[in-house]
Amino acid sequence: MDYSKLYNFFTESYAKIPKMLSNGRAFRPISLFIEPTYRCNFRCRMCLFFDLLDDPRLNEKKDEELTIEEMCRAVDDVMPLGLIAISGGEPLLRRDMMELVRYSCKRHKTYLVTNGILLKEEIAREMVELGCKNFLGSGVVAVGISLEALGETHDEIVQVPGSFDKILQNTRYIVEQKKKSGKRYPLIALKCVITSHNVGQLDGLYQLAERTGVDIFNPITHYHIPAANRLDMDENVNTDMNVEPFADFDVTLLKNQLSTVIDRAARSKVRLRLTPPGIGKDDVIAAYENRLDHSNKTCHSPWSTAILSAYGELSPCSNYTVGNIRNEPLRKLWNNEKMRAFRRELKKRRIFRSCGACCMITSQGSPSQYPALKSQPASGIKA
Ligand SMILES: C[S@@+](CC[C@H](N)C(=O)[O-])C[C@H]1O[C@@H](n2cnc3c(N)ncnc32)[C@H](O)[C@@H]1O
Ligand code: SF4
Ligand code: SF4
Repeated sequence: MDYSKLYNFFTESYAKIPKMLSNGRAFRPISLFIEPTYRCNFRCRMCLFFDLLDDPRLNEKKDEELTIEEMCRAVDDVMPLGLIAISGGEPLLRRDMMELVRYSCKRHKTYLVTNGILLKEEIAREMVELGCKNFLGSGVVAVGISLEALGETHDEIVQVPGSFDKILQNTRYIVEQKKKSGKRYPLIALKCVITSHNVGQLDGLYQLAERTGVDIFNPITHYHIPAANRLDMDENVNTDMNVEPFADFDVTLLKNQLSTVIDRAARSKVRLRLTPPGIGKDDVIAAYENRLDHSNKTCHSPWSTAILSAYGELSPCSNYTVGNIRNEPLRKLWNNEKMRAFRRELKKRRIFRSCGACCMITSQGSPSQYPALKSQPASGIKA
């Protein structure tokens, strides 16, 4: 059984009820995405935070990053057995990160996304020890390791020579630990963002995932998040901003590679998961052809999922903030007027032009049910 599909179905249903019945309110969050830092030891060329990584304010603001206690308080406001996803920046740059993981595992499913270079033996061993006993239990449910391409191409994308070999070694180690312990969880996923640098290597990466013995191969549709700047989050969000188009992208190669990996998935032990989840191969191709059709897309995420920035800003999406958990607890911010205004606007418009191929978009109904987005008036979010 594909538990992630079951989980997505449950989360979506959980979001849809208040979305349908209430005027912007939501049940308690069932997922919390924590970005404990935006600092990173890599410089991935496609990273949605690329412009941020060399901003001198990142190091200046290091002491302003949330403490483990502050993040744990936010975790307490999430529905028990919800999902706590820890990403970044590179989360393992924070030496105290395992304290958050341990705390989160007591009551929730926990998912760590890392570039893998600091996923050393001690951490890998503990991640496996903290693995969920079964799908219904709390603990580490998955570890996502970003491996952007094969060999030197990887090192060239992330701009760190020798990193491919080290990440692969760390991945092998965590897989070995899992085998030794006989545990199903955490699931280990190899992830890559599909770009012109690695598009010809998707099947090669899938084969590597098979040889390494991981559970999931996860190619991600490149998302050009507009003006993502977690240092300057504000209350205004331009939902009509056009997403940067793809240029010089070999779509024929993408089509061939996707067909090959989908064929492979039919006979492979390693599951293939495309992101955005559930939208399918044709939409992935359409995104790279700059013709992704939003007319049958929507997003339920702000009714289920909160995003917490390294400095305490709570957000339903992107760089739009509804307040800071240092001023008010997450449970209060979650249904405050700004959050409700955002949800009302999203519900009214179903999707924003600026959503592009965000991993939260979902297909719904038939395209003919929806008016073309271009016919909608431009508007910001007003609380
Ligand atoms: C921003 S990274 C942070 C965690 C960690 N540093 C890593 O790279 O895994 C989280 C995930 O976002 C993916 N990612 C980075 N830039 C992206 C982009 N422009 N579009 C879609 N996904 C992206 C990464 O590959 C990774 O899987
Ligand atoms: S490792 Fe992650 S956060 Fe760092 S640059 Fe790469 S994608 Fe961005
Ligand atoms: S799909 Fe759009 S509204 Fe939903 S989280 Fe992504 S950017 Fe925000």
